[in-house]
Amino acid sequence: MENRNSEIRLAPTRKLRNGAEIPIIGLGTFGSDKYTANQVAEAVYGAVKAGYRLIDCAAVYQNEKEIGEVIAKLIAEGVVTREELFITSKVWNDRHRDVEAACNESLRDLGLDYVDLYFIHWPFPNYHAPGCSGDARNPDSKPFSVDEYIDTYRQCEKLYKEGKIRAIGMSNMTVKKLEAVLPLCEIMPAALEMELHPAFQQPELFKYVKDRDIMPIGFCPLGSPSRPERDRTDEDVAAMQMPEIVEIAAAHGIHPAGVCLKWSAQIGAIPIPFSVKPEQYKANLAYVCEDPLTDEEMKKIAAADRNCRLIKGQVFLWEGADDWRAIWE
Ligand SMILES: NC(=O)c1ccc[n+]([C@@H]2O[C@H](COP(=O)([O-])OP(=O)(O)OC[C@H]3O[C@@H](n4cnc5c(N)ncnc54)[C@H](OP(=O)(O)O)[C@@H]3O)[C@@H](O)[C@H]2O)c1
Repeated sequence: MENRNSEIRLAPTRKLRNGAEIPIIGLGTFGSDKYTANQVAEAVYGAVKAGYRLIDCAAVYQNEKEIGEVIAKLIAEGVVTREELFITSKVWNDRHRDVEAACNESLRDLGLDYVDLYFIHWPFPNYHAPGCSGDARNPDSKPFSVDEYIDTYRQCEKLYKEGKIRAIGMSNMTVKKLEAVLPLCEIMPAALEMELHPAFQQPELFKYVKDRDIMPIGFCPLGSPSRPERDRTDEDVAAMQMPEIVEIAAAHGIHPAGVCLKWSAQIGAIPIPFSVKPEQYKANLAYVCEDPLTDEEMKKIAAADRNCRLIKGQVFLWEGADDWRAIWE
């Protein structure tokens, strides 16, 4: 990508299977029920000015309209063109039978005529109200169904053929679910959004998608320290507090956040850290562009995996399934 402003730094890119270039870092936009839509939109404005080009959006984050307004402003001000941006969105669980309308709403809110990547946010039609508590359950929730998933996916394939979405993404999948659905895809997914940080490295899933030219996009890359209460348990490991991460950060003279992001980018993922704080999001972009971790440091982090999933998804459990692990079968 051309850098038209010498004061800003653009992240290197990777190629997706559809030929599109995607930056190796993006800005997350889930405010974790803590930051308002306007705060997140203001962060998108500042982050794009600082050099971010990938913005990870979703209808359920309830801020696409505000983000759309700042995208329009950034384009009007000549900071970026639409083509230079890489904007994602996601169909929420209650719209699996109605993907076209859901996508049209996201496009309208974002003020775009296409998104670069459109995810099926969760592989279930089960949904919870935004801001719900951890023990909230929806009586209509159902277990994963290959047929229902593929029906939702076909709707995405139609949107792809119409040019409204430039690539299809899956999210919150497992190897077993991918094994079941990938042979049925007419258009292969270009990316998988998955939880990925030093305390939860998912090596099997990561290798599985890499081997199939599906780009892993790592969510909660810093271990989501501001995640909602419903996603917290006493056993959770904080990636940025792991002794291995703290030690490597000290050796580089940086915040542990930088080690998490360098690790993610260096294994070949695309981390999408969230922040509304300019000093944080600017630093996060710089971390993946300079001073890489050594092979030894990378090995040390690989050996430090705690297999600790933070986003357990228990609010999507169906009747008869009481353990969140059922979500991840
Ligand atoms: N597909 C899915 O199902 C799914 C699920 C979860 C998330 N996501 C996506 O992934 C994105 C990222 O995940 P996340 O927001 O949960 O977690 P995260 O990016 O791991 O953590 C974000 C938090 O880390 C802190 N932080 C950010 N930069 C920092 C820095 N340089 N130094 C110190 N602290 C820093 C901030 O905390 P403070 O605000 O307290 O400063 C910020 O709120 C989301 O915004 C969303 O776009 C997708």
